[in-house]
Amino acid sequence: MPDRLRAAIVGATGYTSLELLRWLLRHPQVKVTVLASRKTEQPISEIFPELLGRIDLPIEPFEPKVIAQKADIAFLCVPHATAMQYAPELLSVGLRVIDLSADYRLKDTRLYEKWYKHPHTDAENLAHAVYGLPDLFARQIASAKLIANPGCYTTSAILPLAPLVKAGLIDSQDIIVNAASGISGAGRNPVPQHHFPERNESFEAYAIGTHRHAPEIAEGIKLGSGKEVGITFVPHLVPMDRGILATIYTKPTVLATIDLALQAWRSAYGSSPFVRIRTGAPPSTKYVINTNYIDMAIYQYGNRWVIISALDNMVKGAAGQAIENMNLVAGFPQAMGLN
Ligand SMILES: NC(=O)c1ccc[n+]([C@@H]2O[C@H](COP(=O)([O-])OP(=O)(O)OC[C@H]3O[C@@H](n4cnc5c(N)ncnc54)[C@H](OP(=O)(O)O)[C@@H]3O)[C@@H](O)[C@H]2O)c1
Repeated sequence: MPDRLRAAIVGATGYTSLELLRWLLRHPQVKVTVLASRKTEQPISEIFPELLGRIDLPIEPFEPKVIAQKADIAFLCVPHATAMQYAPELLSVGLRVIDLSADYRLKDTRLYEKWYKHPHTDAENLAHAVYGLPDLFARQIASAKLIANPGCYTTSAILPLAPLVKAGLIDSQDIIVNAASGISGAGRNPVPQHHFPERNESFEAYAIGTHRHAPEIAEGIKLGSGKEVGITFVPHLVPMDRGILATIYTKPTVLATIDLALQAWRSAYGSSPFVRIRTGAPPSTKYVINTNYIDMAIYQYGNRWVIISALDNMVKGAAGQAIENMNLVAGFPQAMGLN
């Protein structure tokens, strides 16, 4: 790959694209060369006025061969089902692809079809896609052609839990994850239930037992620990723009101590630039918003451990993690452009 990596963003008019642009325009080794979307009539700075004077690329239709001439790597910022239509064409013309959707995260197409309610049409590329959690799978990501960027809720659960399950410190069949997300997690497409009067001053649970991040959390922990887990995952919406706070309830195994848990985290994430292990006051979304950090802490509470993690769903939960993956693929330092 050339020193100055050329990046394309497909689905350029959405929230994760805007977040990618915010960071990539400051990245010392990357130039954004393509913005592709179905809406080609407006310049990007009219859609997102904060980009005025910072990037003046026209928005172009999705043409894989044209994109291949101008870019080395493509970020897919489109909904699931659309991503698996676009990825095969981009891969076939030689681009590396980082998919922010869910299309290449679950390895079993039957599981995908069960949770996403439509057929998976690209088993061929699914077979070699690498799950893009850089703090756990950096080596595999570096040589991947297709990276499945993880979900936002899933990152907040897998990173604290995988090392504890792997070390046998918690009962892997008794894990409860309550996580609350800001509204940007639902994307920019307007839907009635996300209108301001519906969401403002309201804090509520949703998709109990049906949220699609539940199987991804279980699969990600298994990938990171080698063990099957039993998870109860309850997502919530909170009237903030961005941010996720996860409260996780686990049962320690007989000889487990909080010190051993902290050791497991430190040995897993000692060289991870964006995992911050906190002691003392619990993590808060306030201290991770607009950063690529995940903060996490663990507490004894009777015979349970309570874990709190916090991240920005648009950064560590999406665009920032995608840039970490891009850095690894390009041979740049994992944290480049993200501090
Ligand atoms: N928001 C988050 O916090 C977050 C976190 C992690 C992962 N993700 C995932 O990242 C992807 C992008 O999320 P986002 O929040 O950026 O979504 P978004 O704001 O709704 O933007 C998605 C973009 O995809 C384009 N698109 C192409 N084909 C489409 C289709 N058939 N239907 C609707 N839009 C289509 C749209 O642009 P045009 O209409 O201009 O073509 C739209 O601007 C999604 O798969 C999402 O699940 C999001």
